[in-house]
Amino acid sequence: MTTFSPLLTRLTNHLTISDQQIEQIAVSFTQAIEDGLTEKSSPLKMLPSYLAKPTGQETGIYLALDFGGTNVRVLLIELLGQGQSAIRVHSCQPLQDYLSPHTSAEALFNAIAAAIGRLAPPGVVCYLGHTFSFPSRQQSINHAVLLDWTKEIKTAGMKGRNVNQLLQEALIRCRFPNVIPKAILNDTTGTLLTGVFQHPSTDIGSICGTGHNTAYLEPHSPLTGQPMILNLESGNFDQLPVTYYDIILDKTSDNPGRQCLEKMVSGRYLGELLRLIATDLFPEIMARAKPGQPLATPYALTSEDITRLLSDHTPVLDNISNWLNDRLQLPNSSLKQRTALKQIAGLLIARSARLIAATYLGTLRHIDPECSSPHAIAIDGSLYEKVPGYAQTIRVALMAALGEQAEQVTVNLVKDGSGIGAAIAAAIAVKSGA
Ligand code: BGC
Repeated sequence: MTTFSPLLTRLTNHLTISDQQIEQIAVSFTQAIEDGLTEKSSPLKMLPSYLAKPTGQETGIYLALDFGGTNVRVLLIELLGQGQSAIRVHSCQPLQDYLSPHTSAEALFNAIAAAIGRLAPPGVVCYLGHTFSFPSRQQSINHAVLLDWTKEIKTAGMKGRNVNQLLQEALIRCRFPNVIPKAILNDTTGTLLTGVFQHPSTDIGSICGTGHNTAYLEPHSPLTGQPMILNLESGNFDQLPVTYYDIILDKTSDNPGRQCLEKMVSGRYLGELLRLIATDLFPEIMARAKPGQPLATPYALTSEDITRLLSDHTPVLDNISNWLNDRLQLPNSSLKQRTALKQIAGLLIARSARLIAATYLGTLRHIDPECSSPHAIAIDGSLYEKVPGYAQTIRVALMAALGEQAEQVTVNLVKDGSGIGAAIAAAIAVKSGA
């Protein structure tokens, strides 16, 4: 039987982010924002959105396309004014259903246009906002060029192309010319816009889900000198204390050397980190693992598995035992093994939440170094919403670092933030005549 203790002690040391490290990361994050704004080399992309805060008085019925890392959602949303909105109908399909290794950009957008067409009110013009959750360089509110795929997605022939145009052409090809894509935005921007509807002091929007990223309201955008929401693409931040496992995961990923923070914190990667660590923790199991056995299969574990581990509060971790048996085909686990797995899941989740809190701190200090006015952080995503203890860990880390200034800062879950934000962006675009 393996002795876990030395490895567990080492992992605990390497995966724990101290308060002091949070401070250091926040300082380098603020510096990276300031470098990015002044066109110095920076891991942060500082992408303009051509959007500022909504008034809350936006009204009308809009279609929203939410093209994220996991699902493609189409929503028909009514904005009711006074910061109110209602989702009238929606559809949701796993992104994987749209992708095969040979899917072309045109085929992908034909399928998306068909899904939009099923929800579009027939015979009337309907404006659409498109949340496209990948790094894109915007040239206006309705023109965005894909810079790079992230989250291990890789449809060929899309990099460098205007995503809104691809959608518009597909809508015409599929005979839905009455649907007019008016705005394109990142999901973090959408979450920020929706956050403002609920808490007008919102100036940071973030996704903690399959992917990770943050946008904020820059008071003096380099493009216009006016307030504008900038997409940091903070998943690419890289001044971080990486471990041996982070390095292995990066090397074997689709985009080595990129998205360092995202690979340490987001749902797409946490299960894989757990798997890599578990293979070292259970060498005797690995020696016997057959091909196809989940522990021997990259990306077989997901953040849902981590949630399952952390949700087991039975005295001898019976649920984890069942999970090992059913999901990993590993019967007869020992309590020691189950405890170790749960401990690692907890360490990975705490590290993720604390690293992200450090980046929020860095962003807040850029916006308002003295924290002299109220700020709200709007967050959407499955990790923040569903993983036990995640939201609380972010809040505690942030509040500890802010000390007395903590009373100025609130952190809020904004469900469906990116979809509703797409409708808000479409309303803004229509009003501005874009
Ligand atoms: C993308 C971001 C996106 C984030 C959350 C990242 O992989 O690069 O653009 O905001 O995922 O979906």
